[in-house]
Amino acid sequence: MLAERYILLNEIVVPFCGEFTDVVTQDLVLVEQHGVGDPKNVYPEEWALIASSVAKRQNEFASGRECARKALSKLGIHNFPVLRDHGRAPIWPEGVIGSITHTEKYCAVVVGYNHNISSVGIDAEIVGRIDKQLWPLLFTQSERDQLSCLTTSSQSLLATIFFSAKESYFKYQYPIAKQWVDFQDVTVRVEANSFSIHPNGQFNNDLTHGRYCYSLDTNIVKTIIVGIV
Ligand SMILES: CC(C)(COP(=O)(O)OP(=O)(O)OC[C@H]1O[C@@H](n2cnc3c(N)ncnc32)[C@H](O)[C@@H]1OP(=O)(O)O)[C@@H](O)C(=O)NCCC(=O)NCCS
Repeated sequence: MLAERYILLNEIVVPFCGEFTDVVTQDLVLVEQHGVGDPKNVYPEEWALIASSVAKRQNEFASGRECARKALSKLGIHNFPVLRDHGRAPIWPEGVIGSITHTEKYCAVVVGYNHNISSVGIDAEIVGRIDKQLWPLLFTQSERDQLSCLTTSSQSLLATIFFSAKESYFKYQYPIAKQWVDFQDVTVRVEANSFSIHPNGQFNNDLTHGRYCYSLDTNIVKTIIVGIV
């Protein structure tokens, strides 16, 4: 359920009325799960990836794989262990694109066939976790200028949207470009329901054509980027 909250952007009050699902059309399957994952549901090949990790990471990983299982089954694909590549990106079945995100008690996976969609990136972040001291590292000058005009609570929300949008963009572009993207390489512009990504300076991987959406679900900001072929 969407919380009725507002944010002040460029002196305009913008309602959070976007739905995470707005850009998930019939091309894609989105599975969301609240709660903690159960490591017992992880396949042995998958477990080998996180066997030595701390319990919190194992639980998050398990919820990601549980959602991935449900999402792939809606595409008619069963019993497929989702491993990861050298860049830690999930390896999907041939012809499938997808993305995973998890916070402590929320997880989402989106998958689809690559006929009309080039790639997808999703991210979820709990509002209020971005320390102001990290702004110079995470945000460009123009993003910081926007943040500095806001009240503390709006700062907290917008900083979370900026951060989540960049994480989604990283996950979206990586499977295509196999490229590391630094937080200063792109600037996020937020509009009502939507956002856009703008390359800075030398950085230009020209992958910005797609559907973009952010939403606020209780205290979790969710962002999604769907690349159109
Ligand atoms: C990889 C990263 C984006 C993950 O985001 P996060 O908010 O920490 O964690 P989330 O739970 O939302 O996402 C984790 C999932 O991302 C996916 N992921 C990891 N690396 C990935 C990559 N290179 N490409 C695509 N997806 C990736 C994985 O499925 C992972 O879950 P799993 O390990 O359980 O399979 C983040 O840790 C990171 O390294 N960021 C630095 C780079 C960056 O974001 N730059 C932004 C500039 S635009």
